[in-house]
This record gives sequence, C-alpha cells and structure tokens, in this order.
Amino acid sequence: MNGDARKIAEGLTYLSGFGNEHSSEALPGALPEGHNSPQRAPLGLYAEQLSGSAFTEPRAHNRRSWLYRIRPSAAHPTFTRTYNGAIRSAPFTETVPDPNRLRWNPLPEPPAGTDFLQGLWTLGGNGDATQRTGMAVHLYHANASMDRVFSNADGELLIVPERGGLLLHTEFGMLRVEPAEVALVPRGVRFRVELLDATPDGGQSPAVRGYVCENYGAPFRLPDLGPIGANGLANARDFRAPVAAYEDVEGLVEVVNKFCGNLWTATYDHSPLDVVAWHGNHVPYVYDLRRFNVIGTISYDHPDPSIFTVLTSPSDTPGLAGVDFVVFAPRWLVGEDTFRPPYFHRNVMSEYMGLVEGAYDAKAEGFVPGGGSLHNMMSAHGPDRETFDRASAAELAPQKIDDGLAFMFETRWPLTLTPHAAHAEHLQRGYDGVWQGLQRHFRPLH
Ligand SMILES: [Fe+2]
Repeated sequence: MNGDARKIAEGLTYLSGFGNEHSSEALPGALPEGHNSPQRAPLGLYAEQLSGSAFTEPRAHNRRSWLYRIRPSAAHPTFTRTYNGAIRSAPFTETVPDPNRLRWNPLPEPPAGTDFLQGLWTLGGNGDATQRTGMAVHLYHANASMDRVFSNADGELLIVPERGGLLLHTEFGMLRVEPAEVALVPRGVRFRVELLDATPDGGQSPAVRGYVCENYGAPFRLPDLGPIGANGLANARDFRAPVAAYEDVEGLVEVVNKFCGNLWTATYDHSPLDVVAWHGNHVPYVYDLRRFNVIGTISYDHPDPSIFTVLTSPSDTPGLAGVDFVVFAPRWLVGEDTFRPPYFHRNVMSEYMGLVEGAYDAKAEGFVPGGGSLHNMMSAHGPDRETFDRASAAELAPQKIDDGLAFMFETRWPLTLTPHAAHAEHLQRGYDGVWQGLQRHFRPLH
C-alpha cells in the first residue's frame, strides 16, 4: 500500500454528469495531456482503455475510461475455476418462478473470517448474463476485509449497505460507502472491499450487511425528468467519483473474476490496483440517498413509485427499464382525501424491496432492516391490514415520514429464486397472513 495514495483518496471529486469526462491523478503529471495513448505515457506508466460500452454506441451512452497504470492488465497468469460459494448468475433455472409473495428475515451471522466475496449470497434474478440482459439480487454479510481483488465481467454492481460501512479500493481510487449511501462498481472494474470499522485483527462483529443489485444490462443512468424540469430526484452533482489512488505492491495477490456466472481465480505477482491516473466516464461512484430530492403530490392521490427512481437501466423499449433502483426516503405526506400509504396493486414489473433502516409505511411489522420482500410479476400486494385500517381512518394533516429508508429493485422480468433462497431458514413462512382479515366494507346502494 502506498501511504500517500490512501491519504489522497480520502478526498472525493464530484461526478457531475454521467456522459461527461472526469479525470484524476495520484501523482502530478501522471495524466497525459491531449493524447489518450502517447508513444510513452508519463512516469513510465502503461496506457490502457477499459470499455463499458461498444466502441460505436451513441456518444450519450458511450462509456469508457483510460487508465495509466504500473503494469497493463494483460500481464496476468491463467485463470482457473474456483468455488462459486453462494453466488449464482442468470439464467436462473434451478427453481421455477414463484407467483407467491415472499419475505425474508436478514441473513444469519456468517462464520468468522467471511469477506465480502465469500459473503455474497444470491437471492435470484432474471435474464442471461451472457446476453447482457436482466439482473440479479444478492445479499452480503461479511466480518473480515478482503485480502484479494474481485472484478465482475457480467455486469455492474450496485452496493446498498444496510449495516456497517465499507471502503472500496477500486482501480480508480477509494470510496467510502456507509448505510444510507450506495456505491456502484462498473462492469469489469477491479476492487477490494475492506470493512471501515474492522477490529485490529481485521474482523468485525456483528457482520456488516447489505444488498447488491447486479445489473447485466445497460449501465445505470439518471432517469429523464420530463415535465419535472432540469432539477430534481437524484441530482448529478451529488454522485462522487474517487480520487486516483494506487497500490505499488510487488507480491502475490489473488484476483477473482466472475465471468458468465462462474468465479475464476489467478494469483498475480503484483497488485492490479496500480492505476496512477485515469480519465473517462466508466467510473465507480457513491451517492448519498439522503440527498435525493423527493417529489410527491401536493394535491391528491399517491404518485406511482416511479417518482422515486434514483437510477434506471433502460431496455430497448422506451420507458421499460431492465431494472430501476427506487428509494423510499423521508418525505412529507400532504395529499388531501387520499389513502397515503402505497396503494393495493398488481404490477407487470417485479419488485424486490429491502430496508436500510427504520420502518416502511406500507407494513406494520415483519419487514425489517436487512430483510427483503419479493412481489413477482402480477402478484397482488399493498398495505397490510393494520396499515390499511389505520390509514383509512386517519385524520389527514401534513405528516412527516422520517423513520425509514426503504428501496426497491424493480425489474421488467420475474425473478427466479436460487434454491438456497427458496428454502432458506430465514424465509418467512406465513407472509400471506398480513393480507388476511381485510374486512368487507361493501355497502351497495339500493
Ligand atoms: Fe409494489
């Protein structure tokens, strides 16, 4: 570890737009001026392009970065297959898609010495990683920092911590991400996950926990705002990219690569986190969900939850996302003559919901931080009986919802579970019961 690099990395630069160029250098003069690939890159570095989109994709969608590094990524030994642990990838074919409403408690505590990669546990997903379509829902629990490096060729990883902070040491520099923030690691970017609050022996108890949306499809971007105008929802200026920081390490480093659903490993003779400068727009970032500008009704009726979209991965059909990341953040409710919690609904899209902290306003109990629920395509859901009864009878005055932070991964296709999610001990039995006992109130007029 280069001591100076870690110090530099504690600053963060703003990622002011998703189509724009950004740059950073850990040492003055490391970034070439004008040329992407000069005959001799500064400081004896190698120039390398990392493409997150096809070379020829439209300019507004094109993602690529240039990395100036101590050794090119090509300098590695042969990868060999290794144990996939509890990680699974699309296509998900080990169970049949389940139309039932499902809810899980948090993952149990992992064995001591579990790092982020070992602690990844796939709930399910859709699409096909080899076709770059669809998504997967993972949870993680970890009580040890990684001493190896991971990269994912199959898609980008949106990390949503629920308990404990993480330090992501990426090729582009370091990012701190804590609960109520999210981090995104683009496809193919190498990174190591350290625990921010690790004990001197490198461990942490209880384990850190959180959620990961693996997006095989088009990279997440900010949604268009339409009539909302030029500002609102998640603002581009609040997405923070890292400052370049590198490791100048000569020694054995394990690098694990997820490729078409399987983990492959190789032992390098140096750290691949050796990028001294970079520029481009295929870049990791962090976003603080508390910065989300929540927009809702100021007259009547509950807007569709798409109004809470933070990031969207568009498909080839306008308006139909491969996956949306949606946040239910603290907000005021002021709708008049309005049933204010989320309404009863059936949705062609499939909804995985998680809870970072507090409570969610559509459920009285049972949906807990670290847990999650799945309402697959067309499954009927909405407020539980207690919430319905309370909200239907409430005297309506302006009300602040400020005791919870929930989110949703909403996807165009049903999710199919992994066997370990379908049969998990922490799968709640009897979730259907929350909608039992809804009273008949029908009074036909004569
Ligand atoms: Fe829903």
